[in-house]
Amino acid sequence: MAIEIIGVPMDLGASRRGTDMGPSAIRYASLSEVLRKMELEVIDRGNIDIPVQESLKVDNPSLRFINEIIEGCLKLGEFVSAALDRGNFPLVLGGDHSIALGSLLGASRKIPDIGLIWMDAHGDFNSLETSETGNIHGMSLASSCGRGDAKLVTIGGFSPKVKEEKTVIIGVRDLDPEEKIQLKQSKVTVFSMKDIDERGIAQITREAIAIAGSGGNGIHLSFDMDVVDPSIASGVGTPVTGGLNYREAHLALELIAEAKILKSMEVVEVNPILDGRANSTAGVAVEFIASALGKRIFP
Ligand code: ARG
Ligand code: MN
Ligand code: MN
Ligand code: MN
Repeated sequence: MAIEIIGVPMDLGASRRGTDMGPSAIRYASLSEVLRKMELEVIDRGNIDIPVQESLKVDNPSLRFINEIIEGCLKLGEFVSAALDRGNFPLVLGGDHSIALGSLLGASRKIPDIGLIWMDAHGDFNSLETSETGNIHGMSLASSCGRGDAKLVTIGGFSPKVKEEKTVIIGVRDLDPEEKIQLKQSKVTVFSMKDIDERGIAQITREAIAIAGSGGNGIHLSFDMDVVDPSIASGVGTPVTGGLNYREAHLALELIAEAKILKSMEVVEVNPILDGRANSTAGVAVEFIASALGKRIFP
């Protein structure tokens, strides 16, 4: 099994420019070298073609750049499915979180009944009606669960990509008012920062693994870098204070690796333009990826 790196220079799903540079920033922070030191085989598939924002115009302000995002996510879905067909592990580098639509399309097409752990300060559970921004990165989880705009929901020709019963959000602390109601009415399990503070990240992660991993088909991990505190990851477009600390994030990822249920992964929302220290957020992202893929302090 090789790790197949797939870059998605996507910033059409967010308001702040710069997540299109995420794949470069993460590669520049020595991703392949770090993984090869772990004796993993690495194949870099390069980047998927995504149009440059300045070359486009917004035609639907409540679903900004929907057609271009769908087109990019269909391409990403092909890359993810092809990697899984080869028996490999797709490692998707974002890009804003709208690309989860493509990762989950590609993964769920090959792994029916896949579970999902979504680590994020946000729920990304908006629909066209509840979104205050029209940004599709705030809608990608809801759409993947079968809620919202029909074009987003049925991308790739089927829905849902994941069952709400097997979807778990970890680290949430910023939900829009209507998004909160929609999430409450759903069957998604939500572990907020309050749950983590009260019960500890280890216990929460174990519960998440049990829920998302039930049935034994494996899980996709969608890791939004803004789940961690901005003090360790300032280079993200939508920072929210009070996030996971460095050790909590590593522990969660180590426990997921130990459970041996991970089938595919994406790391999203790295925005090097906003980074307080030169490319340090991408550096932290590489460390997190290594933990998720099995790096250990002691064997
Ligand atoms: N809730 C806000 C929105 O819908 C922010 C979403 C942030 N999402 C993200 N993937 N960073 O616009
Ligand atoms: Mn997100
Ligand atoms: Mn987020
Ligand atoms: Mn908000």
